[in-house]
Amino acid sequence: MKPLIVVNVKTYQTGTGPRLLKLIKKLEEVKAETGSKIILSVPATDIYRASSETNLPIYAQHTDLATYGPNTGAILPESVRLAGAKGTILNHAEKKIDLKILKKTVAAARLNKLKVIVCADTLDEVRLLARLRPDYLAIEPPELIGGNHSVTKARPKIITETVKIVKKIDPMIKVLVGAGIKTAYDIKKSMELGADGILIASGITGAKDPKKVLIDMIS
Ligand code: G3P
Repeated sequence: MKPLIVVNVKTYQTGTGPRLLKLIKKLEEVKAETGSKIILSVPATDIYRASSETNLPIYAQHTDLATYGPNTGAILPESVRLAGAKGTILNHAEKKIDLKILKKTVAAARLNKLKVIVCADTLDEVRLLARLRPDYLAIEPPELIGGNHSVTKARPKIITETVKIVKKIDPMIKVLVGAGIKTAYDIKKSMELGADGILIASGITGAKDPKKVLIDMIS
């Protein structure tokens, strides 16, 4: 089964503005050449730009628990959807959401026909957050994010445990693995351990040739 690749450009310079459009072209070539399913998560300010340029599913990196009205600065699920997003990441290690708020935020995202990737830092969080029935649950140990020691090498057990917990609660929830993913081994091992795909940021946004890096990883 081909891995689902979720590229989260965070706020890296190569993932916003005109440079994001260059990255999108590369990701489209990877998809065309490998047949992989790629989701691209971009800053809120780039959702419309990205979704106007590509058929790759564009996701927000966060949405707030707010709706139309006096909510200055809020990122509304309604607006994210209208800007062309197909989904949103929620509770990323770099944008944590209080559990009570998260429950309502997941519901609001669903109401606006947004797919939901909920991120967990620990197995305790996995146990709690799988019950929200997200479309995807991503396990990302924060201490490994952005580094070169991947979660697949450093903590393979957390992947198998996550798969076990999630699939027991709802086999329809897809498990994603993130943090330090940089090599073909990382993807292969994640899939062997039962994951449905990976979440990646710096390995792509920091690459001189993101297309080559991703094709090498996938093939
Ligand atoms: O959302 C995925 C991200 O947190 C992983 O970051 O740089 O370790 O691939 P990175």
